Parts: sequence; C-alpha cells; structure tokens
Amino acid sequence: MKNAAQLNKQFGIAGQLTFRDDASGLVVADFSNTQATAALCLQGAHLMSWQPKSQAKPVVWLSRDAKMAAGKSIRGGAPVCWPWFGAHASEATFPGHGYARTVPWQVMESGVEPNGATRLTLRLVDSDKTRAQWEHSCNVELSVVVGETLRMSLTTENTGTHDFVIGEALHTYLQISDIASVRVTGLEGCEYWDKVGGSVLKKQDGAVTFASEVDRVYINTANECVIHDDKLKRRIHIKKSGSQSTVVWTPWVEKATKMGDMGQPDGWREMVCIESVNAIENVVTVAAGTKHALVVEYTASSL
Ligand code: BG6
Repeated sequence: MKNAAQLNKQFGIAGQLTFRDDASGLVVADFSNTQATAALCLQGAHLMSWQPKSQAKPVVWLSRDAKMAAGKSIRGGAPVCWPWFGAHASEATFPGHGYARTVPWQVMESGVEPNGATRLTLRLVDSDKTRAQWEHSCNVELSVVVGETLRMSLTTENTGTHDFVIGEALHTYLQISDIASVRVTGLEGCEYWDKVGGSVLKKQDGAVTFASEVDRVYINTANECVIHDDKLKRRIHIKKSGSQSTVVWTPWVEKATKMGDMGQPDGWREMVCIESVNAIENVVTVAAGTKHALVVEYTASSL
C-alpha cells in the first residue's frame, strides 16, 4: 500500500486534501475546503469526522476513546458494513457487520466537484483472508464528497458470472446534544425488527424518541430521516437511495459502559446512529455483470 507522501503526490489537492501517516501505521486523508472539514481513515474507508463550516459542532461523531489500529474498527464516524450486516448468517466466527471496515482500501481517484466540494474514491482491497469469507468476484468502491453536504456512495459491482446477495450499511454516528432530548422523524408508520430483548416485529408510532437502549432495523423504507436537536439548534437530514432499511441505535448506559470505547463516562449520550442499510428482508441481489449503489446525503440546517 502507498504511504502518505506517495498518496499526496498522486491524489493530494492543494488546500483541500492531504494524506498523513498516523502513529498507528494507518493513513488518514484530511479534507479542508471553504465548506467543511473531514477526516477519513483509509483502512475501512472509514470517515471519522465531518463538520460543515456553518456548524459550531461536528455533525459526524467520533468517540473520544476511539482507537486506530490495524485490523480494528474505529468507534464512531461512518463504518462501512459490507458484505453482510450484523452477525453472519451461518458462520459465527466471521466478523459482525462484515470485514470491509477493518481491511485496507486503495485510493482510486480524487477531485473537486463543480460546487467546490472535495471528492475521494476508494476501492476495497481483497486478500486471501477476505476471499475465505466472500468468494465472489466484485469491485466495491466508496466515494465521499465533502462539502456543506456530505455525500457517500457505496457501489458494489458484480464482476463474476453468478448473482450474489449482500447486506450493507453506512453506519453513521451523528453528533447530538443529548440522546434524551432529540427526536427522529421520517419513520412514522414503518415496521421494524426490535433487537432489544429478542427480535420482534413492531410498528413505529410517531417520532422516535429515546429513554433506554434502542436497536431497531426499520424495513422497507427509503424515507429521509431528520434528527431534531433543539439544544444544538439544528436538524440533521439523512437522505438516501438504494437503501430499504434504516437502523436506529443507541446503546444507553449499561451497554455503552460494557463496550468501553464510547467516551466514558457519558460520551454515548452525544451520539445516535442513523444507519442507511440493506438488511434482513432487504438484502440486495447483485446480478452478474451489474452494479448496485447505496447513496446517502447528510446536511445540517440551523434552527
Ligand atoms: C448497530 C447494531 O448497527 O451496530 C447494534 O444494530 C450494534 O446491534 C451496533 O451493537 C454496534 O456494532 P459494533 O460491531 O460496531 O460494536
């Protein structure tokens, strides 16, 4: 894999995009333009932060206990879950949420959009280890556009001769004032699998609010979701295509304490995950020779 100096030569953009070697040995891409700042770790194509210039606080949350290490997922940001979501259907030893978030990705391309936002595209690098868990021929790319809007596109191209089925997610951790004082709209009337205390199918009544652990897979919904945060005086809009499931997750105190990397003692209160997903009945068949794209746009608007 290329180091930061080589990447800067080939893909760096003066005043907008630079690569640096982190002490962990991983390479990070730093974005800074007139609209926003962001950072992305090449391992996992893991966006770690995003803050539009219009916002006093980041919009994408990163745990203050987040650790960067080879082969380990980073707590917070936007982990890429692929090619399955949650536990693997049959192999208990395969990693939860797939392997994409813990393997190297290669930089393919960078550029500036007509509106001045900065674009970076990465491709998942396969290895004997990944092929042992996923035998299909494919190209998987993540393209990130950092501006006043953050746009992330996860594309799966089936380059083989057989159809395959994927589960996937852009598992974004979003920065909020306090979990007990926000509400999420856009899922009213949707069915969801409630993963707290077993897996039971329920129907959402009104906005989603939080008073204990929430771990839900809303199905058959491509709706835009909005986080209403009166204390931070802003709304975060999550608009998606190519995704039929939405996961809403907060671990709450007991689980967050057990996890140990959520920013002790109460960092978990300042995040909520609104994940754009294809899972359970919404897994996607990618036919041989075709492409599937999951695209999400995030914006923050001040109240
Ligand atoms: C969510 C799941 O998507 O991710 C939760 O619905 C899970 O069940 C959470 O706890 C975090 O997962 P991980 O593997 O990053 O700790």
